[in-house]
Amino acid sequence: MRASAAPLERTAATVGEVCMAARRRLAAAGVEDPAADSRLLVMRALDLDRAGLLMDRDRRLTGAERERLDRLLARREGREPIARILGEREFWSLPFRVTPATLDPRPDSETVVEMALARAGEADRPLRVLDLGTGSGCLLLAVLSERPAAWGLGVDIDPAAAAVARENAGRLGLSGRAAFVAGDWSAALAGQFDLVLANPPYIAEGEIAGLAPEVALHEPRRALAGGADGLDAYRTLAGLIPGLLAADGWAVLEVSQGQAATVATLLGRAGLSDLAVGADLSGVDRCVAGKI
Ligand SMILES: C[S@@+](CC[C@H](N)C(=O)[O-])C[C@H]1O[C@@H](n2cnc3c(N)ncnc32)[C@H](O)[C@@H]1O
Repeated sequence: MRASAAPLERTAATVGEVCMAARRRLAAAGVEDPAADSRLLVMRALDLDRAGLLMDRDRRLTGAERERLDRLLARREGREPIARILGEREFWSLPFRVTPATLDPRPDSETVVEMALARAGEADRPLRVLDLGTGSGCLLLAVLSERPAAWGLGVDIDPAAAAVARENAGRLGLSGRAAFVAGDWSAALAGQFDLVLANPPYIAEGEIAGLAPEVALHEPRRALAGGADGLDAYRTLAGLIPGLLAADGWAVLEVSQGQAATVATLLGRAGLSDLAVGADLSGVDRCVAGKI
């Protein structure tokens, strides 16, 4: 999909008029929530907060502001995710920096955090947490934010993603309890962890092209592609996880719709017990947990 370079309608002169014109442009490009996204982009281009947007409704834009907004709108028309354009996504009520190297954290993935915390024991327990395929670090850092005595390691095959996760730990004041390494999760990972988290790539290769452009064109391929049936990473992780769990440790894995039963079977065959499936806010089975 090509970004449109159509400038804002000439008749749109004031902030209020430009908001409406921006909304129409994004709606025409097929953006899912044009009202919310146009508001966010106008706020970014004009350096306004929500209150400022209301107060400035009748002010005329400067030429520089129009150009800035045009550039941002063209990116969203090209279906670049809004979080990527803004450079930030909220997850677990915390701000995470996101870049082209990181998956845009999804609200559904908060189910992993909830299931992990429910199995983590007392609040002051000195937990050791491992996050396989950490991306922005959102899963690990959300858990650490809730557990002041916990320590964690995040692993990602993409060094650029590991660097963003490290930066996010710093921004959230969690650097002292979080380490990030770049590497393949299959390569010489050793240690005993009380919680092992993973949101692995789980889309079947043949389905990627049919996903929304925000995902198919803009998310890192390595964050999506799960092999012919979407389950390749689970097969690998099922072989690794038992060796990484401490006694009574829990693994919590995110799954895509329809994968929970198969992933539970893979983990059960690998020796995990007390297998449980957790649903997200839409009622979709989103996580599988099991203990050693
Ligand atoms: C679906 S994304 C999840 C990112 C983040 N945990 C989240 O929930 O938003 C999967 C991540 O796994 C990483 N990954 C894929 N294969 C890997 C491998 N073999 N070893 C380590 N990381 C891998 C990708 O680079 C990507 O960042």
